[in-house]
Amino acid sequence: ATALAGQPIGHDVQVFDELASTSDHVKDLGLAGFPHGLVVFAEQQTQGRGRRDNRWQSEPYEDLMLSILLRPTIPLEFWPRLTGIAALALCRTIESTTPLKPLIKWPNDVFVDGKKVAGILAETFTSNQGPFMVLGIGLNINRSSFPEELTPIATSLRLSLGPSQPQPRERIAITLLKQLNQLTPFWQDSHEVIIQGIRERSLLIGRAIRAKLDDHEISGQAIALNDEGHLIVAPASGPTFTLTSAEQVRWS
Ligand code: BTN
Repeated sequence: ATALAGQPIGHDVQVFDELASTSDHVKDLGLAGFPHGLVVFAEQQTQGRGRRDNRWQSEPYEDLMLSILLRPTIPLEFWPRLTGIAALALCRTIESTTPLKPLIKWPNDVFVDGKKVAGILAETFTSNQGPFMVLGIGLNINRSSFPEELTPIATSLRLSLGPSQPQPRERIAITLLKQLNQLTPFWQDSHEVIIQGIRERSLLIGRAIRAKLDDHEISGQAIALNDEGHLIVAPASGPTFTLTSAEQVRWS
């Protein structure tokens, strides 16, 4: 905590052995009026949530699960940019603490060696004191195995680096919070700094992708990220389309 003295994010940190979900806990604290920048870690979650009703499982004392309470003072239209900020902060954290080369699978996931190493869940809620956000992050650090069905698609920093290289969890956690403090000032103004960082680490640009939009599927090549961070996709024929969120994007 001393490492973060005076920083907006992480001035106040709670650590639990077990919670149902750090994001549910932080949501309750947000509703109760707790201030911007509170960070909550848990070693274990009994009801860890991912996007689209997925579950999130981490290994106690091996990985990182945290949620952050944010009360942005910028217009609501910019709030969805938080996911990209968090993805870039995660990449920069991994880059500065390991030799790995993380990529962002637009918009919510961070990949290493073609497998998911971290997931982001950004949610907006409304309280009497106005709207607030809960940023939930799961980062696989030291776990050495996954359930069979996840083994082909999930990794941890240690699994990618080799078993003899356990990673310093606490240092990584502090680096992540520092990165978030460094990047959140670009949330509204000079946002191109963030977009540029995401573009440089894009897993999808140049790839053939399929996306499910409501009830129909679209396919094409992911060709660019626009200035808002939305994904531009060029189908085999016809005009390009813009994906604003990741509902069910697959690539090949
Ligand atoms: C995803 O990849 O679908 C997002 C996963 C987000 C998981 C984190 S772990 C900490 C926080 N608490 C939760 O219940 N979920 C997020």
